Amino acid sequence: MAAKRALITGVTGQDGSYMAELLLEKGYKVYGLQRHASYPNTSRIDHLLNNAKFPNFQTAFGDLSDSANIAAIIDKAEPDEIYNLGALSHVGVSFTMPEYTVDVTGLGALRILEAIHQLKAPTKFYQAGSSEMFGAVEKQTFQNENTPFNPQSPYAMSKVLAFHTTRIYRKSYNIFAANGILFNHESPRRGVSFVTRKITLGLSRVKLGLQDVLMLGNLNAKRDWGYSRDYVEGIHKILNYKTADDFILATGETHTVREFVESVAKQLGFDLAWKGKGLKEKGIDRKTGKKIIGIDPVHFRPAEVDYLLGDSSKARKLLGWKPKVNFQQLVEIMIKHDYDLMKKNLGKGHKLVTRHRFY
Ligand code: NAP
Ligand code: GDD
Repeated sequence: MAAKRALITGVTGQDGSYMAELLLEKGYKVYGLQRHASYPNTSRIDHLLNNAKFPNFQTAFGDLSDSANIAAIIDKAEPDEIYNLGALSHVGVSFTMPEYTVDVTGLGALRILEAIHQLKAPTKFYQAGSSEMFGAVEKQTFQNENTPFNPQSPYAMSKVLAFHTTRIYRKSYNIFAANGILFNHESPRRGVSFVTRKITLGLSRVKLGLQDVLMLGNLNAKRDWGYSRDYVEGIHKILNYKTADDFILATGETHTVREFVESVAKQLGFDLAWKGKGLKEKGIDRKTGKKIIGIDPVHFRPAEVDYLLGDSSKARKLLGWKPKVNFQQLVEIMIKHDYDLMKKNLGKGHKLVTRHRFY
């Protein structure tokens, strides 16, 4: 039997890179949509690219904002499955470029679905929906597939647009088009401007004396954090279920950003104590008396999502999916990776975490 063919948008990202590995393991021929960049943006897939061990992996230059380019790639690659993981995915940044966010994160899905429709391609489509779509929830309890959306950012409203586009193309044209609604998932490949990675990298640097203080925003937001590798397995199950449907993937546990900081600090051997309130709040290492965490309002968002907690019982029951890695194990995986990474960079003036406004 011929190998199944998959196209992954966002293949250079966290989930895209794990998705490519999973599909290659399963014997797929994998095509990745790669944005052109003047300096390589392929660090997460370099081990797959031009590697004789992975003859079934290749990328093509493309962009979710270019309809003709997308249609041409689908026409040429003839994928059985498309995983639309590409997006401007940073909620905070989406406020600074709302139009671009709607274009790529929102209309990107429409462009792919319209190409599938026009080409009459027998292609299944997965849309990377987000728990951010729930936004400001009415009650601080579990969100499931029936919870109403109340988006709070250009990113979230774009994801809502893509979610409904996917449903409409499923119903109108009988395309196998499925939505995942994924709660936060992290890994050592997480982008460095997302809060978990910022904390694991930043506190490792503080521990190694490469940086004095880690500046953060809202410490009280609650998130349902899982492990990206577990979630790409769920995504594959969603697209290989007998019918196209919408599924939540989540751990069912929620923690504050503050708890994530505390857990990382403990792993690194700090004795963390919180002092002060609001913008004056700081985290002190009792062992040295030094401030290691501060608050900078630049990291606050114009509108915040305070509370996310997912009920993934539908996916657990129908897909047989459940996450393997819990909160504590996730922190351990990330801190082990990032402490070692920063240690290797000792003395090299590594400025990864501090140099950007959003880091
Ligand atoms: P990520 O690491 O930020 O990756 C985003 C990918 O999208 C990158 O490969 C990026 O390319 C690509 N991209 C950005 N703009 C593009 C454009 N105009 N055309 C084509 N590609 C473009 O995100 P992730 O964490 O892997 O998340 C994957 C998807 O799941 C995203 O759609 C995200 O919104 C969604 N999601 C993520 C989570 C989560 O917690 N991680 C939860 C729910 C939903 P470059 O490498 O060139 O920047
Ligand atoms: N990024 C960031 N930087 N967030 C901070 C900081 C900081 O310095 N300090 C506090 N936070 C808070 C944010 O205000 C937010 O409440 C929480 O930490 C998590 O922020 P992010 O890690 O940036 O993730 P997110 O929850 O906004 O969005 C992620 O998860 C969504 C799923 O719920 C992204 O991956 C989205 O693409 C994804 O859809």
